Amino acid sequence: MPQLPDGDPAPHDGRLPAASLSAMRGGTFSLYLHVPYCSVRCGYCDFNTYTLTELGDATGASLATWVDGVAAELDLAVDVLTADGGAPPVVDTVFVGGGTPSLLGADDLGRALGVVRQRFEAAPDWEVTTEANPDQVDEAFTTALARAGYTRLSVGMQSAVPHVLATLDRTHDPRNVERAVAAAQSADLAVSVDLIHGTPGESLADWRTSVEAALALRPDHVSAYALTIEEGTALHRRVARGELPRPSEDDQADKYELADDLLTGAGYAWYELSNWARTERGRCRHNEHYWDGGHWWGVGPGAHSHVGGTRFWNVKHPRAWAQRLASGSPAEAREVLTPEQVTEERVMLGIRRREGLPVEDVPDAGRQAVAGLVAAGLLEGVPAVRDRRLVLTRRGRLLADRVTWGLLGL
Ligand SMILES: C[S@@+](CC[C@H](N)C(=O)[O-])C[C@H]1O[C@@H](n2cnc3c(N)ncnc32)[C@H](O)[C@@H]1O
Ligand code: SF4
Repeated sequence: MPQLPDGDPAPHDGRLPAASLSAMRGGTFSLYLHVPYCSVRCGYCDFNTYTLTELGDATGASLATWVDGVAAELDLAVDVLTADGGAPPVVDTVFVGGGTPSLLGADDLGRALGVVRQRFEAAPDWEVTTEANPDQVDEAFTTALARAGYTRLSVGMQSAVPHVLATLDRTHDPRNVERAVAAAQSADLAVSVDLIHGTPGESLADWRTSVEAALALRPDHVSAYALTIEEGTALHRRVARGELPRPSEDDQADKYELADDLLTGAGYAWYELSNWARTERGRCRHNEHYWDGGHWWGVGPGAHSHVGGTRFWNVKHPRAWAQRLASGSPAEAREVLTPEQVTEERVMLGIRRREGLPVEDVPDAGRQAVAGLVAAGLLEGVPAVRDRRLVLTRRGRLLADRVTWGLLGL
C-alpha cells in the first residue's frame, strides 16, 4: 500500500473547504466501504486488515458492529457534504472492499447498502460491487446480494495452481472459484476475477494455467496484478532470508504479455494497465471514477477519500475508528492537493488507460519527451497523437513508470 504523507490535521467535525464542496458539485460521486477483517492474513498482503484473533474483544471494532459504524460515518458524510446547503451527491458507484467483505455474510452486506440508500440518492443504474472470498460464496449468498441491490462480485481467485496458492498463503479451495463465479452468474451479478502473477516459484506454464482457468469461467472482467513484495509482510521476510526467490522484472513482463495475449485472444480488451473487460459495460466504473479524478468518500478504518481536491484518510485501527466516530470525524489527517499534485496524478493515472492521456494534461516540462517516447516505441504514433491522446504501446505498458517520469519531465 502506498505510504501516505503525514498531511495536515483534519478538523474534528470533518468539515471540508467550501471550494472542495463546490468542485464536487456536478462531478461523479462514489462510496467505498472498507471491511477490515480477514480470517487469516495472507503473507503477501499489507492492506489494512485484521484477523478476528488479532482484534480480540476490541470494543466497537468487531464484525458485529461494523454496519453501525458505517451508518455513523455516513451520517457524518451527509452533514459534511451538505454544509454548503446543497443536497447530498447522487451516488454513482459503491465498492465494498477489504479485507474480506464476504466474512460479513449477505445480511450485513445488504444492511450496509440499506444504510447507504437511507442517506443518499442512488444513480438509476448505479454499480454496486463487493469483493468476496470464493470459499464464502454460494447461490444463497449471491441471490441475497442481488436482492439487496448489489450488481457485481469481485472474486479473489489469485491463481488456479495449488503450490502458488500455498506460497501466497491462500486457503481457499481452487474448485470453489468455479462455484462462486457460477453462483454470481446465476444471480445476474457481473463478475470480476482477480489474479496475481509473479509469485515465487510460479512458472510461465503455471501462470498460463491460471489465466486459462479464469477465462474458462467467462467472467465479465479480469484484473491481473504483478505481485508486489511489500515491506513488513511475511513474504518479504521469506524473500529477504533467501527462502523464496525474488520475482524478476523479465519474468513479470513475460507473464504480463502472456496474460494480454490470452485475454485479448478470448475477446477481452485492456482498458487499464492491469484490467481487461469483455464489453464496455463490463469495466469497473468505480475504479474508472478513481482514475478520472472523481469524488469519493471512503468509509471505514483506514479508508481514504477525495472530495474536490481535498484528500483525507481515516485512522487505521478499527477500535480507534469506532472511538473517534463516537464523538466526531474518524479522519486522521488531510491534504489539499496542489496544482502540481493534481497534474502528477492525472498523468500517472491517465497514461495507464486505453483511452490515453490528453496531450493538454502533460505539463510543459514533459512535452518535449513525447516525440522520443513515440520513437522508442513506448507511445502510439498516429492516429493517437493526431487525436491529441497519448496511448501506451504494449511495450510502453511494460514500462509505464518510465513513460510517466518522462511525461512529468523527471
Ligand atoms: C486486498 S485484496 C481484498 C480482497 C480479498 N480479501 C482477496 O484477497 O481476494 C484485493 C486484491 O488486491 C490484490 N493484492 C493484494 N496484495 C497484493 C500484492 N502484494 N501484490 C499484488 N496484488 C495484491 C489481490 O489480487 C486481491 O485480490
Ligand atoms: S484475504 Fe485479501 S485482504 Fe485478507 S489478507 Fe488475504 S489478500 Fe489481504
